[in-house]
Amino acid sequence: MMLKIFLILLVLQGLVVNASSSSSSSEEEEDDDDNGSSEKESKGHHSKGHGVPWGYKDQTAWTFNFTHCSGKSQSPIDIDTRKAIHDPKLPPITLEGYDLTDDSALTLWNNGHTLELILPSTMRIVTGFDHEFRAAQLHFHWGTPEVPGSEHTIDNVHFPAEIHVVHYNSKYANMSEAASKSDGLVVLGGFIQIGLHENENYEKILAVITDVSSEEANTEIPGFNVRHLLPNNLERFYRYNGSLTTPPCYQTVNWTIFNDTITVSRKQLKALENTLKAGQTEHLNKNFRAPQLLYGRQVLASFQNPPSIIGSGNGRIGGSNTSSGLSEGLSRGDVLAIAFGALFALTLLCFTFYICQQHKKYSSITKDSRQNVIYKPAMKAEA
Ligand SMILES: *[C@@H]1O[C@H](CO)[C@@H](O)[C@H](O)[C@H]1NC(C)=O
Ligand SMILES: *[C@@H]1O[C@H](CO)[C@@H](O)[C@H](O)[C@H]1NC(C)=O
Ligand SMILES: *[C@@H]1O[C@H](CO)[C@@H](O)[C@H](O)[C@H]1NC(C)=O
Ligand SMILES: *[C@@H]1O[C@H](CO)[C@@H](O)[C@H](O)[C@H]1NC(C)=O
Ligand SMILES: *[C@@H]1O[C@H](CO)[C@@H](O)[C@H](O)[C@H]1NC(C)=O
Ligand SMILES: *[C@@H]1O[C@H](CO)[C@@H](O)[C@H](O)[C@H]1NC(C)=O
Ligand SMILES: *[C@@H]1O[C@H](CO)[C@@H](O)[C@H](O)[C@H]1NC(C)=O
Ligand SMILES: [Zn+2]
Repeated sequence: MMLKIFLILLVLQGLVVNASSSSSSSEEEEDDDDNGSSEKESKGHHSKGHGVPWGYKDQTAWTFNFTHCSGKSQSPIDIDTRKAIHDPKLPPITLEGYDLTDDSALTLWNNGHTLELILPSTMRIVTGFDHEFRAAQLHFHWGTPEVPGSEHTIDNVHFPAEIHVVHYNSKYANMSEAASKSDGLVVLGGFIQIGLHENENYEKILAVITDVSSEEANTEIPGFNVRHLLPNNLERFYRYNGSLTTPPCYQTVNWTIFNDTITVSRKQLKALENTLKAGQTEHLNKNFRAPQLLYGRQVLASFQNPPSIIGSGNGRIGGSNTSSGLSEGLSRGDVLAIAFGALFALTLLCFTFYICQQHKKYSSITKDSRQNVIYKPAMKAEA
């Protein structure tokens, strides 16, 4: 009887392991031909220079004044994790000069399309690309408490917000010269989620966000370690060739999207979502462009699915449909891992119980005859 239960549990465990390993299947070929680029409503973001107006509400209209916006290497995109190609040769990214100190000051401003922090060109990416790239600015994309507003999506899921750190190739004099060159730009992107704790690094910016609530307003903040605005792990990232996600949509961006995410408190995200204005009265939110078609582009990944310890294969980390609610805890991988663990514990329990039963039986028998004693040490070693 006990033996039967034990065997059933073993079979169940086998099934769980199977299910989890098939969920972490490897990449497929086949180009992305889906029409994932559903239109989304929105308002403002970055127009700088040009002076030709554009907005997030009617994104299809961008192509009217900005021809690059209808190109075939546009950003953002949906990153299909099953189709991303693992490339172990992607060089790791090394940052230098990111650790600014408070003797320097940084300008934070509301440009009518986003919240932007101007960065000194002493901040650089020194490895990871064919050239050195210098920082120019960082900015954010967000939604509302109801609508998550990252630009890139992972398996069609938006994150609450996204940070972009924009760099230009050091062979060009400045950002505006580099922006239209095919090897001109590198953008590092990270997803922002809601966590339990206030993010003190993001607070350096968000604490003064009310000072720049009106369009064109700016303020100075003391320098700080900008590295801490990015995810902890910079080794796991996606790479693809794309564009500026705002007009003029130049197709000159070498994109890096990190797999690790950043967490801020719900209150901090709300400050980002609810404070800024565009124009006199409009709220500046939902400043994200819809995902663009791939047209055969490939997305590389510097990493493989997490080293799978039995069962915890292809977990989706975070990524919820709405920005309200804590970063949803359990992924498919997690659930499988827990199920497997529970089954294992149960099996062990049954097995122990079974042994105890046997042990009792034997010990009552073996009071006189010792033939069964041989079994005992072997079984004890197991428990
Ligand atoms: C997808 O886009 C193509 C053109 O790019 C169009 O012909 C087709 O109707 C679209 N399909 C859907 C389902 O929107
Ligand atoms: C194109 O730019 C002009 C100003 O140069 C503007 O009046 C017009 O609204 C823009 N068109 C679209 C579709 O945004
Ligand atoms: C982006 O950087 C990678 C790594 O250096 C490089 O292989 C790739 O060609 C770059 N893409 C473009 C468009 O320059
Ligand atoms: C960028 O560099 C070019 C070429 O040296 C120069 O003409 C232009 O004025 C510079 N722009 C800015 C904004 O510094
Ligand atoms: C990006 O473009 C560069 C230059 O055209 C090319 O060498 C590289 O393979 C492309 N990268 C990807 C991931 O397609
Ligand atoms: C990180 O990678 C894991 C494993 O491929 C994937 O399941 C998860 O969705 C990724 N998350 C992001 C934000 O890229
Ligand atoms: C996410 O949102 C989309 C539309 O906004 C909806 O179709 C989809 O069912 C949602 N997915 C989940 C898991 O809630
Ligand atoms: Zn951006």
